[in-house]
Amino acid sequence: MNNKINLLQSVLFLIVNRIIKLLKCKHLIERNSCMYQEPSFKKNIVDWFDKNQRDMPWRETTNPYYIWLSEVMLQQTQVNTVVDYYHKFITRFPSIKSLSDANEDDVLKYWEGLGYYSRVRNFHTAIKEVNHKHGGEVPTDPEIFKKLKGVGPYTLAAVMSIAFNHPLATVDGNVFRVWSRLNNDFRDTKLQTTRKAYETELKPYVQDNSGTFNQAMMELGALICTPKSPLCLFCPVQDHCEAFHNRTTQELPVKTKNIKKRTLNQKVFLIRNDEGKYLLEKRKDKLLNGMWQFPMREASVADNKITKDIGIKIETIKTPIFELRHQFTHMTWNIKVYSVPNSINLSNRLLPDNYTWFDLDDREQYTFPVSMDKIYQFIVG
Ligand code: ADE
Repeated sequence: MNNKINLLQSVLFLIVNRIIKLLKCKHLIERNSCMYQEPSFKKNIVDWFDKNQRDMPWRETTNPYYIWLSEVMLQQTQVNTVVDYYHKFITRFPSIKSLSDANEDDVLKYWEGLGYYSRVRNFHTAIKEVNHKHGGEVPTDPEIFKKLKGVGPYTLAAVMSIAFNHPLATVDGNVFRVWSRLNNDFRDTKLQTTRKAYETELKPYVQDNSGTFNQAMMELGALICTPKSPLCLFCPVQDHCEAFHNRTTQELPVKTKNIKKRTLNQKVFLIRNDEGKYLLEKRKDKLLNGMWQFPMREASVADNKITKDIGIKIETIKTPIFELRHQFTHMTWNIKVYSVPNSINLSNRLLPDNYTWFDLDDREQYTFPVSMDKIYQFIVG
């Protein structure tokens, strides 16, 4: 009889334990421990990284300016694309002083095609501040570094850990994916509270060798723990992965959908003068500020607005000669490009100050957003 009760108790204990674990991992009750806290986890992932990391030029330097630059470039852009930009950028601006002394147009040119141009503007502003207020040295104190323009929690942790081994955990898209799967964590990764929780949960692993650990986590996310078809069979931390054991990798990470993007219909005017040069304007909006475009206005008011802005009647042919769509994170542009049949012969002096006549052969002198480069490519065939 006693034996039967003992057996029943053990089975009940196992079932209750399993339920508690499940509730913790689904965050229906507060969690305190999970498999990832096993000490072998860090060793496994770092050993894997040591053997399998990709060669990247910024991994061969200890120069905090270069490391910072690479991290700004790597936000939202693939490693392969960044390598070329990185080399060209540090060749042209090899030091903090050289970047600080450069003018914005020149700097933008070296970012052309990477997108997210406010990032490089902020980086440039921050570097000028480093040059003028911090003796030309990247601050080693995170409290000072984080006050610089454009330095958010990710850049702070990345630069401070990789360059100076400060105990800060990087939480980017890769880390969200890896960490949520390791812990079978269904919290919404779009929430600030989740990011903060991840930073705290990762703290124990960045007490030493933080730069390597952080890069190992990101590299695992890029090479093994990929969004659609993770290579779990090759994963060095498969044993630690609760999502693998629960067969939930495909459901993680949880990201609530973005609110619907705004769509803007844009009309582009191809205006030529008698010399066959095209009219360009320099953008003054916050979005793509300082970049050049063929004059473009919101479609519903475009004709009136362009005539008013240039001070001369502008008429286009009826049908667009080219159409394209450009996606930003928060907005989509539907662009229709129209040719203006009559040449316009205003001299540069009579044009508003942010306009100029552009010779198609002078492309290198202007920084275009991707959408305008596509239009340019269409024109030159
Ligand atoms: N993604 C952004 N920065 C990275 C780094 N330093 N290593 C791996 N992946 C990254």
